[in-house]
Amino acid sequence: MAKDKVKESEIAVHWQEEGIIHPKKEFVDQANMADPNVLDRFKAENWPDCYEEYAELLDWDKRWSKTVDTSNPPFYNWWVGGKLNASYNCVDRHLKEHRNKAALIWVPEPEEEAHQVITYQELWVRVNEFAAVLKDECGLKAGDRVTLHMPMVPELPVTMLACARLGVVHSQVFGGFSGEACGDRIVDSESRILITSDTYYRAGKLLNHQEKADIAVKHAESQGNNVDKVLIWRRYPGKVSSNSKMTDGRDFYVDDLLKRKKGARVAPESMDADAPLFLMYTSGTTARPKGCQHSTGGYMSYVAGTTKYYQDVHPEDVYWCFADIGWITGHSYIVYGPLANAATAVVYEGSPAYPDAGRPWRIAEQLGVNIFHTAPTTIRMLRKLGPDEPAKYNFQFKHMTTVGEPIEPEVWRWYYEYIGKGEAVIVDTYWQTETGGFIGTTLPALQPMKPGSCGPGALGMQPVVLNDDGNSVEPGSAGNLCMKNPWPGRMQTIYGDPDRFVETYFGKFAKRDSKKWQDWPYVTGDGGTLSEDGYIRILGRVDDVINVAGHRLGTKELESAALTVEAVGEAAAVPAYDELKGRVPELYISLKPGFDPSGVDVQVKNTIEKMIGPIARPSHIWVTSDLPKTSSGKIMRRVIAAISNFMDPGDTTTLSNPEIVEPITKQVQAAKKAMDAVPEGERKKLELEVQNFGDD
Ligand code: WT7
Repeated sequence: MAKDKVKESEIAVHWQEEGIIHPKKEFVDQANMADPNVLDRFKAENWPDCYEEYAELLDWDKRWSKTVDTSNPPFYNWWVGGKLNASYNCVDRHLKEHRNKAALIWVPEPEEEAHQVITYQELWVRVNEFAAVLKDECGLKAGDRVTLHMPMVPELPVTMLACARLGVVHSQVFGGFSGEACGDRIVDSESRILITSDTYYRAGKLLNHQEKADIAVKHAESQGNNVDKVLIWRRYPGKVSSNSKMTDGRDFYVDDLLKRKKGARVAPESMDADAPLFLMYTSGTTARPKGCQHSTGGYMSYVAGTTKYYQDVHPEDVYWCFADIGWITGHSYIVYGPLANAATAVVYEGSPAYPDAGRPWRIAEQLGVNIFHTAPTTIRMLRKLGPDEPAKYNFQFKHMTTVGEPIEPEVWRWYYEYIGKGEAVIVDTYWQTETGGFIGTTLPALQPMKPGSCGPGALGMQPVVLNDDGNSVEPGSAGNLCMKNPWPGRMQTIYGDPDRFVETYFGKFAKRDSKKWQDWPYVTGDGGTLSEDGYIRILGRVDDVINVAGHRLGTKELESAALTVEAVGEAAAVPAYDELKGRVPELYISLKPGFDPSGVDVQVKNTIEKMIGPIARPSHIWVTSDLPKTSSGKIMRRVIAAISNFMDPGDTTTLSNPEIVEPITKQVQAAKKAMDAVPEGERKKLELEVQNFGDD
């Protein structure tokens, strides 16, 4: 990164510091962790053994002999010598005390359909029977990878746990992703089995999901990766509700296969602590998604511990995390963390505001939900659609989480007053697909809340904000948010690409020859500040990633999809402010000579949706005669991002074509008049976010 940017990222960001809010006594009195000594136990000098407190929450087949092996940074091995099974820890071990307790409550989107209550005993039966299918019908064994492309149905956690039982590495692709995106992930993970669903409900429609499997398999095969079998869970077992055709010898309905497995039991494989448990793909700076590989022992200990202490889940609570299991939030904090704690987790199939903005509160009232977990985007939307709805229903949360994006203090306050009814604590949890679990958050009974800040580092974490030279900045100043220490939940590597892992997360500041972990800070890719009291404030991504409603999109992914449209000569994606989603992607394109611009915008939007999925659909496509470029021909995204957000484009004299800035500004801003007021706080964040945007 260019030297002159150092100064920019050191600019002190003068936030209006918010007052702190303490949890209510009723919450503290019942909290899993209200002992202030825990803060001492997890002090830096007690690292790494402090994390044994988390590992001890699990049942081990064999105890570890060493906490962590850091001899080969940045590859660390937690709980060396330990053996365990994740499925056993989430299911079998709870049978003795909680056999009849609900493990999962599935809420279908149509309100007239009954809830499905799956007890731990029932979960155990389903996981065993499906594990038998995977083993006997698919020949899967420990270490094999399997791609899942499933919506929010209870069969998804069953499938994950059945894989884990065998030591098979699952790679769940978010159900909203396209068939092609799924196909790319099949290829990258070298999967020979795809597990999917026929249909699911979303916003009142029964969607045909099975058609994506055909596209995914074809797409994978075109890249030389054959898929032997596609297993299809049916939304209505025994009934055909998708109009996709079955391919003979390749496609199988799971309900048919299960008929032969009644009563089958499969012993959980005893896995090494560092055996991979799953892959989760996420976006980065290149078009190729990264398969974040998470371990069995390190990951499970971290999510079990953070669920207990931070989510404050007790077995008798009803816990509802309103995220999709297809993202890391659902893996860690719907499936593995809560089930390891013998909790009851609610799984909701559909859209938050379907059929109206009262839906979440009816679910909460009916099921007696007392822990609620969602993203700022959902909160903003529910606030806009039905600010008075929560008051109409008789529910009371003790605890609420927010995750995925920075939350504006005024949205935070609405969440606190209207949804939490002034009683519930809010836990703003900052983390990433890569980190496995929370890395910045308040410990709810012990650390006060501060609206808009995600709290100090999680227990054991040592956050630091570095300037581009690798030196810590003053408290309150902005810079690169990094984590100094290794922790058990962190991903092990990028599947199949350890060099990319090293470059992406450590390349910026590592002393490459050093074998000391202290010389390898983990680079989050976020800009942030640490205030005097150690609380973190996230300002946004400083790499080429756009956070849309808590979902990560790589600018390169969007651009390479746009470039597949014949008429498109050049494309650049930038983040634009959006009142509900935080950021939305906008695309600037210029056409190849001789092509007619009419209809190109729709074509580009549709192509992106087809190749990635509806979440990636750009809010605007700006077809321009040329794009601002440096003398070496690189597109200056920073300049167009400024235009999209009504900000000062800064110095444009270094451009090879500075004359085009004005006409593009006019074109874009005239069309966008409606949103000319980006709120002050957001503007500051955007400035930091776009200053490093993709011109290097
Ligand atoms: C990026 C990670 C794992 C959570 C779901 C998203 C942003 C996440 C917060 C928060 C401000 C947040 C960061 C991060 N982010 N949580 N509480 N406050 N920003 O996981 O898709 O891997 O995205 O989401 O920018 O790097 P992800």
